Amino acid sequence: MNKEIKNWEEKEGIKFLSKIGIKKGQKVLDFGARIGHYSIPIATVVGNKGSVYALDKNKEPLDELKRKAKAQRLKNIALIKTNGSLETGLENNSVDATLAYDVLHLIDNRKKLYKEIHRVLQKNGLFSVYPKHNKLDQPEQGLKNLDPKDVIKEIEAHNFYFEAKHCGLISHDDFLNEGCVLNFRKKENI
Ligand SMILES: C[S@@+](CC[C@H](N)C(=O)[O-])C[C@H]1O[C@@H](n2cnc3c(N)ncnc32)[C@H](O)[C@@H]1O
Repeated sequence: MNKEIKNWEEKEGIKFLSKIGIKKGQKVLDFGARIGHYSIPIATVVGNKGSVYALDKNKEPLDELKRKAKAQRLKNIALIKTNGSLETGLENNSVDATLAYDVLHLIDNRKKLYKEIHRVLQKNGLFSVYPKHNKLDQPEQGLKNLDPKDVIKEIEAHNFYFEAKHCGLISHDDFLNEGCVLNFRKKENI
C-alpha cells in the first residue's frame, strides 16, 4: 500500500469520516467496500462499541480487507460477500449510516439499491454517496450522463433528503483526489 493511502486510512480518512458525520458507537454499512480504504478508518471512528459491515460482491478484495483489519487489530469489521444482487441481508432499520462511495456508476438498478439502503437505515439515518465518474468527473458507465445535481434529484426521489456536501482530498482507487461526497438523510415513507 502506498504511503498516501496508508496515511489516509490511519489519519486523514478518520478526520474526513468524522467530518461527514460518522460517530463513535455507530453501525455503518460500507456498500462496495473493496479493500477498505473507507471501512478501515470507519472502524477506528466507530470504535469497539460500533461496527462496520464491509459489503462487496467480490471475494478477493474482502480477503485483503480482512488481512488489513487483522494486522491493525480491528475487530469490529464484519465482511458481507454478496452475489451482486443488492440485497444486504441486514435487518430493517439496523444501521446508522451507509456509504456508497465510487460504486453508483457500477450499479444497473440504482432504484433497487436506494430501496435497500432506505430499508436498512434507521430513522433519520445517514446515506453518504461519492458519485465519482459522474458527467463532470471522469464520466463512466451508469453516471456518465448525470451531474451531481442530477444525482441529488435522483436520490431525493427515493425517500431521502439532501443534507450537505463535503469536499476534500479523499481516497479514490489507490490514490487521493479532490472530491465531494453528498450526504442524505432517510425520510420516512409517507
Ligand atoms: C471502484 S470500487 C470502490 C471501493 C470503495 N468504495 C472505495 O471508494 O474505495 C467499487 C467496488 O464496488 C463493488 N461492487 C460493484 N457492484 C457491486 C454490487 N452490485 N454489489 C456489491 N458490490 C459491488 C466492486 O466489487 C468494487 O469492489
